[in-house]
Amino acid sequence: MITIMHLSDLHFGTESAQVLSSLIRQVRELSPEVVVISGDLTQRAKWREFRAAKRFVEEIDKTDTEVIVVPGNHDIPLFNPVMRMFSPFHRYRSVFGSTRVAVQHVGRVRFITVNSVRRERHASGFITSRRRNEVARVAQECAEGDVNVVVTHHPLGINSLSDKGDAHHGDSETCRAWHGAGVNLILSGHVHRPFLLDATEQLIANTGEGEPPMWILNAGTAISKRVRHDHPNSYNLVKIDERAGFDGIAVERWDYRVEGRQFFQQATRSVELRSVPSGSIGK
Ligand SMILES: [Fe+2]
Repeated sequence: MITIMHLSDLHFGTESAQVLSSLIRQVRELSPEVVVISGDLTQRAKWREFRAAKRFVEEIDKTDTEVIVVPGNHDIPLFNPVMRMFSPFHRYRSVFGSTRVAVQHVGRVRFITVNSVRRERHASGFITSRRRNEVARVAQECAEGDVNVVVTHHPLGINSLSDKGDAHHGDSETCRAWHGAGVNLILSGHVHRPFLLDATEQLIANTGEGEPPMWILNAGTAISKRVRHDHPNSYNLVKIDERAGFDGIAVERWDYRVEGRQFFQQATRSVELRSVPSGSIGK
């Protein structure tokens, strides 16, 4: 079993200390193979916020859990136009390294990271055709039966019209390219709303009968006080069973409850990776 803890939108600078310590306890208890953080580690891309995010990642590192990180739109400066124009990722790269398309293997799961943040866009995301094609090329190198998981900040699909301005531009084209290349699952965040969508139903027209699904799993904000849409702090757990031949995944959503001072499992759903079901675990 490979367990992925999917976190997003930590927004250090606006974090709740209580939720943060509960999350660190959960990482130690669950001991997932991987923690994925799908962007917006900081609130305003300040050095002290990056240092706090780094300390959190180092806490996870102590548990022998792999950590996979991509930047979000809050991880480039908003109020420093010179830095935003000429070196928007300087601080992010100093702390977390390259923002190029990269692949990281954890067992037979391949994580492909891609940066969807553009300095010229305030909040929405965009994946350039070069990056789209690079992800597709890497995905096609996947061995038979292995699982391709793309990690990016902006969701390629939404489950609420109120998030329309915050999604990707060119999402259906990107979805088609990645689905054709064999991507199974995309992990994202940004809108502070957890949901699970089958991109083949929502975004890709003319998908043939029996085509495999491509799931978009979005995470809410894990620890920020900036909760939205009545969604509490939350994270996702994805469980992939190697013994079952990677044919399906179990997805759990864990919500933070103030009265219990910890995260509780709120919803669970099992979905296939090789055939076509439908639905959502979002509210
Ligand atoms: Fe964001």
